[in-house]
Amino acid sequence: MKVKFSGCLICCILIAAVFTNVNAQTRKTQSLDGKIDAVIKKLTLEEKISLLHANGIFSAGGIKRLGIPEIMTDDGPLGVREDVKEGWGSANLTTDSATFFPNGSALAATWNPELAYRYGHDMGEEARARGKNVMLAPAFNICRTPLCGRTYEYYSEDPFLNSRLAVQSVKGIQSQHVAACVKHFIVNNQEVERGRVSVNIDERALREIYMPAFKATITEGNAWTIMSAYNKLRGVYCSENDYLLNKVLKGEWNFKGMVISDWGGTHSTVNAANNGLDLEMGSQPPYNKYFFADKLLDSVKAGKVSVKVIDEKVHRILWVLYHTAMSENQPEGKINTPEHSKTVYDIASESIVLLKNDKHLLPLNTSAIKSIAVIGDNATRTFHLGGFGAGVKARYEVTALAGLQNRLGKTVDIKYAQGYSGVYRPFGKNARTENAKPDSALIAQAVATAKSTDMAILFIGGNREYESESRDRKSLILPFSEQALVDAVTAVNPNTIVVVVGGAPYDIGDIRKNNSTIVWSWYNGSENGNALADVLIGKINPSGKLPFTFPAQLKDSPAHALDAYPGENLQVNYKEGILVGYRWFDTKKIEPLYCFGYGLSYTDYKYSGFFTNKKSYNPSENITATLKVKNTGKYAGKETVQLYVSKTGSVVDRAEKELKAFKKIEIAPGETANVTLNIPVKDLAYYDVKTSKWVVEPGKYKLLAGTSSRNIEQSGTITIE
Ligand code: BGC
Repeated sequence: MKVKFSGCLICCILIAAVFTNVNAQTRKTQSLDGKIDAVIKKLTLEEKISLLHANGIFSAGGIKRLGIPEIMTDDGPLGVREDVKEGWGSANLTTDSATFFPNGSALAATWNPELAYRYGHDMGEEARARGKNVMLAPAFNICRTPLCGRTYEYYSEDPFLNSRLAVQSVKGIQSQHVAACVKHFIVNNQEVERGRVSVNIDERALREIYMPAFKATITEGNAWTIMSAYNKLRGVYCSENDYLLNKVLKGEWNFKGMVISDWGGTHSTVNAANNGLDLEMGSQPPYNKYFFADKLLDSVKAGKVSVKVIDEKVHRILWVLYHTAMSENQPEGKINTPEHSKTVYDIASESIVLLKNDKHLLPLNTSAIKSIAVIGDNATRTFHLGGFGAGVKARYEVTALAGLQNRLGKTVDIKYAQGYSGVYRPFGKNARTENAKPDSALIAQAVATAKSTDMAILFIGGNREYESESRDRKSLILPFSEQALVDAVTAVNPNTIVVVVGGAPYDIGDIRKNNSTIVWSWYNGSENGNALADVLIGKINPSGKLPFTFPAQLKDSPAHALDAYPGENLQVNYKEGILVGYRWFDTKKIEPLYCFGYGLSYTDYKYSGFFTNKKSYNPSENITATLKVKNTGKYAGKETVQLYVSKTGSVVDRAEKELKAFKKIEIAPGETANVTLNIPVKDLAYYDVKTSKWVVEPGKYKLLAGTSSRNIEQSGTITIE
């Protein structure tokens, strides 16, 4: 009796505490809303309109007489961009260098949400130090085609991996009272005709593949701002799309912050204003000619846009300012700190993917190796700037060659040969494209260098000029005749390691066939070379896993197999529906070159003992799956256990399997880790287009735990009631 009574008492106290908390929260929201409404009352219509459009390339608004600061935005996602003046030229400041963070697909290859948080946190600190209150990051459009020029900026082809990383990036940035601007909402999955193309997609694919990470950053990550994409969705520009902005984002997801247009991505006054856009950005003056400037004022006066609509936008903008530039207790900003470099180093070292190590050339046997030929333009190239779009004026960037010299320079004779030129100029009289012929002099020099050394490390791949915003690649072929260089060097030195640097898949089928050792690296930030060298010498055991499928040939990839890219007459039909990335390859039984989630280690892991806490569940429960992972090799390592779910005999078409949980764990040699993964049953739902509802289908589901999407080690079956 007594136990029962005290149980009840505890319950009451807990419930009371929860209510007090909820009430306090509601009061806080109400008082902020009240404060904002009071400010709005003091504004003239002209002042309100002045808050709704750019007044500089990255700034907007600001009302001095009321102490309302300007909104200061900046790119993202590679770090806080250097300050620019009108026309995008450098402002030539000496105070705007910043940390260069690894690119999006590098972060995704870590499969480590904790690192995504640190990335956001540190970039937020740098934004504060630079006086920015909105970071135009993270960017995480789904990798629908491997050719998309911005694949390197984005995360993955998988909505779940995408969501887990994006939410943490947002939380990290906003922990510094800097707003994250999640982008680009939505289906900006190609750069070809991005400003005019209409994406025609079925609702299920939109909800299951393209929206989840956006939804998660709003409902879970509480992102304060979002950027509308350049393209159209089903014939209507995203920046004036009532369904997208009013119905889904602000309605269903209850988004409280502001919708920012992509730069120059606004196309109307009345439609954009009434259909959900809050702030028009762009880079060309005169700013009073913007859709949301004088024309908006006229439209309000003409009764085409109501004052209520304007007030709601102003409310949202002030709400963001109260969380950022006008918030109390804003943390001090910090820039270029050793801690930020450490974050970059940690992300870079966990992102590198070991693709092949057949001869165990890696980790390098540093006591036996006397000389190394370091070959390739990418060994000395930096990646913080380049191409069209956002870069960072990096305080420093360690190249691959410098990294190897730092680690091995005292004991090993390192000789460098360029091997190929990575200069890329797609247009103009002096154009030099990806099809540039092999440079026989550079190759001869590389061959001579490789002949005279114990081993060769080749650095090839893409670069920031070649992979770029505003254009897609035309093929997956390695640019600049790099294959010829690889073949020539491998022929004279059998101890050749190929390091491919890139932010998106390439066709490395011949290298896979002919070379024993392949490492994949990325545009890995200020600490790029140090992290890479530490992986090669074994100080870091590689643990990166591919965040997207590498197709054996482009036409295996869904959008290309179905001839559904880049569209015709400015219409692109997403014919593959939900079968994006590995969902397509698995369902259609097509062998990829390297599958989603793939990545080797210097050690081996053995999976065993898979079980679930129950055999059958109802839709409100959580599935808890447990298994053992033993490190059976001699190196400590980090392994990402991936848990996929497969529904056979479904009433709707389903992908062969879908990622539903993952966990990265560190295991010492000989040790066994117990790994627990949770899947809320509601995450097994499909989107039912008939009822516009998520439906958890009853019946049997297979749970598949593996080291990659195609190497399933353990499995179990559960039933949903
Ligand atoms: C890009 C955005 C970027 C903006 C400002 C646009 O071209 O699509 O991602 O934030 O420019 O630089």
